[in-house]
Amino acid sequence: MCGIVGYIGTREKKSLLLHGLKELEYRGYDSAGLAVLEQEELHVFRATGKLKNLEHACKDFVSEGFGVAIGHTRWATHGKPTEINAHPHTATFSSVIHNGIIENYQEIKQNLMDKNVVFCSQTDTEVIVHLFEENLKETSHTLEAFKKTIHSLKGAYAILLITQEAPKGIYYAKQGSPLVIGQGPDGIYFSSSDAPLIGYATHVCYLEDGAIGFMDNDSFSSLSDIKTLNSNRLYAQKEGFRYFMEKEIYEQHKVLLETMMGRMDEEEVYFEEINDDFFTDIQRITICACGTSYHAALSASYLFERIAKIKCNVAIASEWRYKEPIVEHDELFIVVSQSGETADTLEALKNIKTQGLKTLAICNVDNSSIVREADTTLLTRAGIEKGVASTKAFATQMMVLWMLALYIGQKKETISKEESKKERAIMLRAIEAAKVLPQTHEKIRRLSKRYLHGHGFFFIGRDIFYPLALEGALKLKEISYLHAEGYPSGDMKHGPIALADSNLFTIALMPRNLLYDKVKSNVEELAARDATICAISSLELEVADDIIILKEHSSYMEEFFEMMVVLQLFALEVSIRLGNDVDMPRNLAKSVTVE
Ligand code: G6P
Repeated sequence: MCGIVGYIGTREKKSLLLHGLKELEYRGYDSAGLAVLEQEELHVFRATGKLKNLEHACKDFVSEGFGVAIGHTRWATHGKPTEINAHPHTATFSSVIHNGIIENYQEIKQNLMDKNVVFCSQTDTEVIVHLFEENLKETSHTLEAFKKTIHSLKGAYAILLITQEAPKGIYYAKQGSPLVIGQGPDGIYFSSSDAPLIGYATHVCYLEDGAIGFMDNDSFSSLSDIKTLNSNRLYAQKEGFRYFMEKEIYEQHKVLLETMMGRMDEEEVYFEEINDDFFTDIQRITICACGTSYHAALSASYLFERIAKIKCNVAIASEWRYKEPIVEHDELFIVVSQSGETADTLEALKNIKTQGLKTLAICNVDNSSIVREADTTLLTRAGIEKGVASTKAFATQMMVLWMLALYIGQKKETISKEESKKERAIMLRAIEAAKVLPQTHEKIRRLSKRYLHGHGFFFIGRDIFYPLALEGALKLKEISYLHAEGYPSGDMKHGPIALADSNLFTIALMPRNLLYDKVKSNVEELAARDATICAISSLELEVADDIIILKEHSSYMEEFFEMMVVLQLFALEVSIRLGNDVDMPRNLAKSVTVE
């Protein structure tokens, strides 16, 4: 995810910004840039790739005396990771950096182009700086022009803008993306997280949504809710959570909004990345992936068939490669991958391309090998995921796949306008359902102590909750090293139930809105064999030994997203109690680039 830094003061600005951006490297990026405004001159440097390339690009520049400066690491969302698309974006006398997504940028861009404004990049961000300068033609009041600009934007943003028209300070705005302002003995600092401010600022203000203003050396004290800065760097990177995995579980509802942004309106789901006729000849879909991404794919197959009424086959990439699969000319091949580098998935994709199929990647890392190989890509926009056990990547893959099912349904007219509207409303509620509730987390933490022994775990569910059960079992085994398997609950009687006794822990996924009674019968069969039952449901269940109560949702997809969080937290808390390394479990790698 993009990183932002900014500074107002007399320190050497280039090295200060580079230092700050290094502190944000852990968030992932594919290009970087900085702009310094001093003695009325604006200096802008940008480079693709790692920060050392930016360092090289500005190696002969040194800033002296008082000035203002902004720096950015970009994680591409609109437009490729090129130097032209890197931030800052500059118009005539102003430069801007931005995190987030401007949903209505095309409309703004068109209006500006009608006024002969020339754009250089493919980004949504560039509209901000041009619109600001355009607004300044109508008022000499720079803050007014900035506010007018910000009020025209729809979407999520953390924005810093510097301009020769007001060289003593930085304009800032925050909506949906984090932004912190700090004060230290040598000036004012800005950042998208507090890690870069450690050692520089003593006091900070974490801006609230809707914050907008002009900051100079004298205005910090006018901010409300100023706090003393905690000086532990790793703590800052984890934003106060014990583990990256925990932080990533907690931020899922925020990244899900980013996944959705600019892809849905009152009328429909749309993807700028997909040509209008992309699905015209497509009659069937194969999705191929590994690990957690495979579970997202398998879950999505239910949605593709149910919503888009399109035949959907799902394959584990390592199996697909050597199967000599028979493919049809009207088949779309979708690969799902967090890293975009998984060898099995990449090879399956290359292999299928030789057979001439259309390909689509659903991926979290732009410019990765899989993205470069596929015909088209939908980025999941989860931001960098550090925990080896995948959480927010899964959530965002699910959302993109669900939106894609709806998109195909719209194109193929297998879903009515009314139903499509309902589905989009459910999507928004599902994001809300992915928000961690403190009382649920606390309940799971307490409950976890009872699930540290036993001879194994069965995670069971039906329909789309079966792949979620697989994912719940995978999460647990990845970080607790306990034996856990996912099963379709209706299939227990065909073998697995032989293992049932009081030392078999069953985690039962029991949505009230989908096949509740069917799953209940299967759970009762297990309970009759004395298995220990932990139900996850919004309905009480007499035979359950434990129950994790969900909210009362009106659709099964809301239950899906809430249960996903419950399963992730369950694995996390069991692992913590067992004293394991949650973020770096034994034997596993985040990105598996070997067969
Ligand atoms: C590794 C990771 C898993 C991941 C799988 C597929 O095994 O540990 O968390 O699900 O690879 O990775 P991908 O990057 O293709 O989604």
